[in-house]
Amino acid sequence: MEESRSTVDVTAIELLKRLLEILDEENAFDRSGNKPVVRFVQPDQLRERLDIDLSEQPASLAEIETAIRQTIRYSVKTFSPHFHNQLYAGVDEYGLVGSWLTDVFNTSQYTYEVAPVFTLMERQVIERSLELVGYPPMPDGDGMLSPGGSMSNMYGMVIARFKMFPEIKTKGLAGLPPLVCFTSEGGHYSITKGAHWLGLGTDHVYKVKTDELGRMRPDDLRAGIAEARKQGHLPFFVNATCGTTVLGAIDPLPEIAAICREENIWLHVDACLGGTLLLSEKYRTRLTGIELSNSVAWNPHKMLGAPFQCSLFLVNGKNMLHETNCAGARYLFQQDKHYDVSWDTGDKSLQCGRKVDGPKMWLMWKARGTRGLRESVDLAMHAIEYFYERIKGRDGFRLVLPSYECCNVCFWYVPPSMRGQEETPEWWDNLYSIITKIKERMMVEGSLMVGYTPLSYKNVGNFFRMVVTCQPPPTEAAMDYAIEKIEKFAVDL
Ligand SMILES: Cc1ncc(COP(=O)(O)O)c(C=O)c1O
Repeated sequence: MEESRSTVDVTAIELLKRLLEILDEENAFDRSGNKPVVRFVQPDQLRERLDIDLSEQPASLAEIETAIRQTIRYSVKTFSPHFHNQLYAGVDEYGLVGSWLTDVFNTSQYTYEVAPVFTLMERQVIERSLELVGYPPMPDGDGMLSPGGSMSNMYGMVIARFKMFPEIKTKGLAGLPPLVCFTSEGGHYSITKGAHWLGLGTDHVYKVKTDELGRMRPDDLRAGIAEARKQGHLPFFVNATCGTTVLGAIDPLPEIAAICREENIWLHVDACLGGTLLLSEKYRTRLTGIELSNSVAWNPHKMLGAPFQCSLFLVNGKNMLHETNCAGARYLFQQDKHYDVSWDTGDKSLQCGRKVDGPKMWLMWKARGTRGLRESVDLAMHAIEYFYERIKGRDGFRLVLPSYECCNVCFWYVPPSMRGQEETPEWWDNLYSIITKIKERMMVEGSLMVGYTPLSYKNVGNFFRMVVTCQPPPTEAAMDYAIEKIEKFAVDL
């Protein structure tokens, strides 16, 4: 038994070494864009092509290698210069090295005892990120890597609630008036999910109206807070967004911060997307006022290209993360260890075992320097500027917003057959379905991926959302390619 097990382990290590060669042979490191972004196959057919079933008998090495090659073949190549489908793309290669390195040790980030180097690296990433946001250094500022932006936003909600009612931790919500929170109608749905998970109820999320650029309207926030108080509700949390999911809008932080200060409400900034702009001297002023907030969520795994998952929750307040979340488990966080136990960060988090995420970011930051990261942000923003300028006024292209603030630009493409006609509701419905047709053609040909979405609160149907990210470094040629492909896909529609 022991013998056969160790044989398998040796084989697996050999396979691990071989994996790099296979990835290379299958062009998984090719960023040229000459290969398909996707080989789309309907789920039933894909299932037939793959040996998916798990069985009693172990698979042979050859079968495993085939499975690896098929995985590479049918996986979406997010590293292609023609992948613009999500708010992430590709992976920073140094980040990938960090990811593989941390996975080899497969440890938890909760104590210094089991993650000494990773603990130091995580702290360094948090300290540099606090600086970027303009929060005080540790221990007055603090932070935590969390399993994604939705969780980071939820951390903000929990800490805000604890700050207002510390006894909620032991006594629960009973006896309190309904606690309400505010986010813009363009804010991410994680706030609504958070309201459910935290027992607030989704009816207690006020959706603040947005202006013509999709930014939260401070006058409507003020009116909403007044209305909530009139109803006997207790406003405790405002979520402002820097880089909304669809439109990329950046809420007016100084005005919102002033309202929150006056009203004694916690201000959290969801900078999951736009936080990356803080790295750029040129673009960071778009987030002016973020330093006035109480907490921030930032996802380096979106625009910056850090490997999934890499999300920071940052807070302006000493000990708040610990006080809010600690449970004091002595089997893990013994206070009489032989080292300084303030390096055991695990009791600040909701989770027990916590993935080693910060060090992936540390390695890419170390390898590129802040200068390299800044340059990659400037390059990405240059590409989206170029894209925007090229489609502005170009035949058939129509912008959803008169300008843009982050790394996404939204637009319709009107095919030649629909131009110069009266734009009745039927005309618009037809255009919305043409957007889906263009998308289908992209996927079937496998040469481009751009996402589309409707926006019900603006009363509009489907449009495309073009996104650029720092990985792979976007080029003007890739922007031209996307424009020309969309024109080709729609030529006969
Ligand atoms: C603005 C914004 N905030 C939060 C999130 C949630 O982040 P995650 O997917 O890491 O949970 C998203 C996801 O797209 C987002 O766009």
